[in-house]
Amino acid sequence: MSYESDGNDPILAQQINRESNARTYPRHLPFAIREARGFTVTDMDGDEYYDCLAGAGTLVLGHNHPHVVDAMERILDRNRPLHTLDISTPAKERFVDSLFESLPDEFAARAKVQFCSPAGTDAVEAALKLVRTATGNRSVLGFGGAYHGMTSGALSLMGDTEAKEPISGLSGHVHHLPYPYDYRPPFGVGGEEGHRLAAEYAENLLADPGSGVASPAGMILEPVQGEGGAIPAPDEWLREMRRVTREHDVPLIVDEIQTGLGRTGATYAFEHAGISPDVVTLSKAVGGGLPLAVVVYDESLDVWEPGAHAGTFRGNQLAMAAGEATIDYVLEHDLADRAAEAGERLRESLDETAERFDAVGDVRGRGLMLGVEFVDPTCDWRGPGPHPPDGDFASAVRAACFDRGLVVELGGRESATARFLPPLTVSDEQLDDVAAIFDEAVAAVAGGERAETEVTA
Ligand SMILES: Cc1ncc(COP(=O)(O)O)c(C=O)c1O
Repeated sequence: MSYESDGNDPILAQQINRESNARTYPRHLPFAIREARGFTVTDMDGDEYYDCLAGAGTLVLGHNHPHVVDAMERILDRNRPLHTLDISTPAKERFVDSLFESLPDEFAARAKVQFCSPAGTDAVEAALKLVRTATGNRSVLGFGGAYHGMTSGALSLMGDTEAKEPISGLSGHVHHLPYPYDYRPPFGVGGEEGHRLAAEYAENLLADPGSGVASPAGMILEPVQGEGGAIPAPDEWLREMRRVTREHDVPLIVDEIQTGLGRTGATYAFEHAGISPDVVTLSKAVGGGLPLAVVVYDESLDVWEPGAHAGTFRGNQLAMAAGEATIDYVLEHDLADRAAEAGERLRESLDETAERFDAVGDVRGRGLMLGVEFVDPTCDWRGPGPHPPDGDFASAVRAACFDRGLVVELGGRESATARFLPPLTVSDEQLDDVAAIFDEAVAAVAGGERAETEVTA
């Protein structure tokens, strides 16, 4: 048996035998990847797929972009160090130059950066530690539907309760506020009125001495909830969160780990609302596809002690070179604008699918961060609002897409939202192909096709 020449099967069999029960994506995407380039991956059987998962939104330039590969090769060719803890190097300083260049001037002018252990969740941990140290307060305000990572502090802020239930000892110093989810509005009203109510709720919580919530150390939010199901925060609500937190001296942490670097149609998604946060967490795209995570924050918060957030792997030079190349390419080629335009194109096609099938409840998102929520229109539903989310239908669509050469993942309530996170370099033709495959997959499932949707062994 050869892993190189015998196709997917021997690799998948070994994976099932040897890897943890906690493994995730391969349960629904049963292939092993041999090659990856741009928007496509090729599996060990030689089948090609469009990759709308793209490293969970990491690969804004797609797989193995030549500009990024060249930057990494320049490090490898010249005996440059690969691992430096947080000792600096030319590659690191160039990365920080590019990172600061990508941030709005007002924010960059007062910014400090902390390199974290290389996962988004550690940038979130660092941000929480930073604001707790700076304010001396403990509690943090988060939002329903949120996803900030899987380590203890970040997990405590997660909206989805399933992942938290088996774990004891998560921080109790968190409070979840309603996020303005227009399709399933927490106050029963969508649109501007719903956004206003959500903002008023937050303001009242901070203003009312009887709210039960002690002065918070910070508020953390995603400007578009990604894992939560591609739910964009309305700009006016985000502005209100900025006003309210400023008025109450609560540092505002914007988690741009998934939205950052052009994906939503602005370099950073908070820019749509014209706000300036106190803290920004970044990972995924800023490492150019390699592991890297940073927290960037206003210098006034920089009162933690030396070593307050240490970690061995904070000096990944290849990731810094890849990140610098990626940031520069995104800025030089106006890829945020391209994401806005391409997102509009894909969305129009998804809207057409929605018109044809009752099982599509909502199409939403921003830029190239789109989601399609499936519902069960046949269920005898007398409650308020839309029909309930239909995770089984979504799962069958994911399998039908996979069978047709398209990788999409699910998120949101009941995992009923198909999510699209293609690279920002995707062409119009590729997007039209994606839309056509997706439409065909939805039609097949609506017509009764139910392929194997989960590798259960
Ligand atoms: C908004 C957001 N924050 C934090 C994280 C955690 O990042 P990581 O998986 O690299 O720990 C994610 C991951 O998807 C994310 O989308």
